[in-house]
Amino acid sequence: MSKLPRFTAKDYTALKGLQAISDEQITVHLALYNGYVTRSNKLAEQLEAMLGDGKSATAEYQELKRRAGWENNGVILHELYFENLAPGGKGQGGESRFGQAIAKQYGGFDAWKADMLGVAKMPGVGWAVTYFDPSRKVFDNFWIDRHDVGHPAGYVPVVVLDLWEHAWSVYLKPTERAKYLEDFFANVSWTAVDKRGF
Ligand SMILES: [Fe+2]
Repeated sequence: MSKLPRFTAKDYTALKGLQAISDEQITVHLALYNGYVTRSNKLAEQLEAMLGDGKSATAEYQELKRRAGWENNGVILHELYFENLAPGGKGQGGESRFGQAIAKQYGGFDAWKADMLGVAKMPGVGWAVTYFDPSRKVFDNFWIDRHDVGHPAGYVPVVVLDLWEHAWSVYLKPTERAKYLEDFFANVSWTAVDKRGF
C-alpha cells in the first residue's frame, strides 16, 4: 500500500446534454480534471520517493507538499462539481431535502440563492461552496480562492460551483459569468445534493 494516497480518475463522460452548457465545454473541463488527477498522483509518487530518501525536511519537499494541497483540492472540488450536475437538473431545489433545510435557516430558498449568487459573482477565480457545519448544524456560503484557500475545517461541502472561467469560456465569453450562473442553476442535481452529509 502506498504511504501517500493516490486518486483514481472517475468517469464523467456520461455527463452530456446539459441545458445550455455544451458537451464540448464539459469535455474540455473533464480533460482539465484528469490533469489534476495525473498531477496529484505524480506528486504523491515524487514525495514518497523523497520521503524514502530522507528528504522530507527539504525546501523542495515542502514546496511539493504545498502544491499537493492545490492539486488534490483541484481533484476533489471538480468531482463534487460534476456530481452535482445533471441534464436540465434533477429534483426541485425548493422542495428538496436541502431546499427545505436551507429555507428553515434563511427564511426561504431564494434568500439562500441570493447569498450564494452574491458569493458567486465575486471578482476573481475560485469556487462558491455552500457548506454545512456538522457541529452547529448550519449552512454557510463561502468563496474559495482558487482550490486550496479558505475551506472551513470540518465543514461538509454541499453545493459546489466552479467559478474558474474555464468552466464556461468554451460556450460563452469570459465576461458572461451571469449567464453561466443561470445555466449552472438550471442543471443542479438536487438529488445529488440531498445525498451529501447534512
Ligand atoms: Fe474547473
